[in-house]
Amino acid sequence: MNTEIVKELNSLKKEKNAVILAHVYQLPEIHDIADFVGDSLDLSRKAFQVKADIIVFCGVYFMAEIASILNPNKKVLIPDIDADCPMAGMITVEKLKEFKSQCKNPVVVAYVNTSAAVKAESDICCTSSNAVDVVKSIKSSGEIIFVPDRNLGSYVQKKSGIEMKIWNGFCPTHNNFILPEYILKARREHPHAEILVHPECRPEVISLADRVMSTGIMCRYVKESYKEEFVIGTESGILYKLKKDNPNKNFYPASSLVICPNMKKITVAKVKDVLANMKNFVSVPEKIRERSYYPVLKMLKVIQKQTIFKKGF
Ligand code: 13P
Ligand code: SF4
Repeated sequence: MNTEIVKELNSLKKEKNAVILAHVYQLPEIHDIADFVGDSLDLSRKAFQVKADIIVFCGVYFMAEIASILNPNKKVLIPDIDADCPMAGMITVEKLKEFKSQCKNPVVVAYVNTSAAVKAESDICCTSSNAVDVVKSIKSSGEIIFVPDRNLGSYVQKKSGIEMKIWNGFCPTHNNFILPEYILKARREHPHAEILVHPECRPEVISLADRVMSTGIMCRYVKESYKEEFVIGTESGILYKLKKDNPNKNFYPASSLVICPNMKKITVAKVKDVLANMKNFVSVPEKIRERSYYPVLKMLKVIQKQTIFKKGF
């Protein structure tokens, strides 16, 4: 890595009182400069506690938006304004309103991979770490709507035993590039490895895996496991952290194609640029922010009441 840029970045961070939060799918160079690397739930919780004046969010737009929803008085910057999650774009406020109008006393659970406007139309948010707990926490007898990920939705439905109306969205990276045949091949090639997959994978992939878990839980699980080999069924960026945290363990990607192109748009040069020039602000119109704050906060409360790390989730 260009040490000159890193030096400049560090002095900018100090001067402006900024913190760098990064998702585990980011490039290795971003892992190395970040103050905190985590999954979407870890990052939301971190964004809630941050003391710095500026948050530089290295992730996709909806993640930076959550930081802004939780911190209206802080400046949130995203190093690449086009780093978007295509799944988040698969549900709009209009479509959600129409879906709600077809259900009896709808209760909307919005995966955090949604826009702030969709969150504002929802009752509670969830991430892949806490989705089962969130759905189980719902007391209403109304129909539960789950948006937008059909794969996470069907996994949660199966795990919780709670019937839901599930939107037909999906993550192109997990849905299209982790296929059952890759899992079967990995099983043949690495018979001693444990196969871990993200719940955004197709149900056929999930049923072939040993364990299903969010990226944050995956990082903690691998550290605690006595096993030494793992096949990883999620975006490739996580491999850098897994290897860094567990140098004596071996990790095999379920496929070399599991790359989220949006996550990879962010580079150290862009991080330095947004901080130096104070650009790419992420902000949410106040009316939407107020209404999206509660579903996010409710989600954080569910998690605070229960254990985050459950083996086998
Ligand atoms: P995590 O909740 O595991 O961070 O996943 C977020 C995401 O975008 C997965 O594709
Ligand atoms: Fe969105 Fe999938 Fe990329 Fe995650 S990996 S940010 S769900 S496109």
